[in-house]
Amino acid sequence: MPRIIFQSADGTRTEVEAASGQSLMSAAVAHGIEEIAAECGGACACGTCHCYIPEGQGITLPEAEEMELAMIECVIDPRPQSRLTCQVTVSEAMDGLVVELPASQH
Ligand code: FES
Repeated sequence: MPRIIFQSADGTRTEVEAASGQSLMSAAVAHGIEEIAAECGGACACGTCHCYIPEGQGITLPEAEEMELAMIECVIDPRPQSRLTCQVTVSEAMDGLVVELPASQH
């Protein structure tokens, strides 16, 4: 099972085991990651599952679709590495991925 590391804005790291095929949002919610409220339940309509996925981790993520990009424009403090966790599907290749959580969602 791929391990995903959720890192809070204060640097606290929580490592969770995710299942391939589930979303990063589902993995976060299942493990009580507070910053991921996921109010719309994964419909790409709330932005409360926003995260930053830093580059340079040796892991290539699928590109964001138009709907995700449009929603990211509405979140607080969007950055080039912004993603919506509900739109990123976990794969075995993501083992060890670090996902940073916005301070605004704590
Ligand atoms: S859970 Fe609402 S946009 Fe991701």
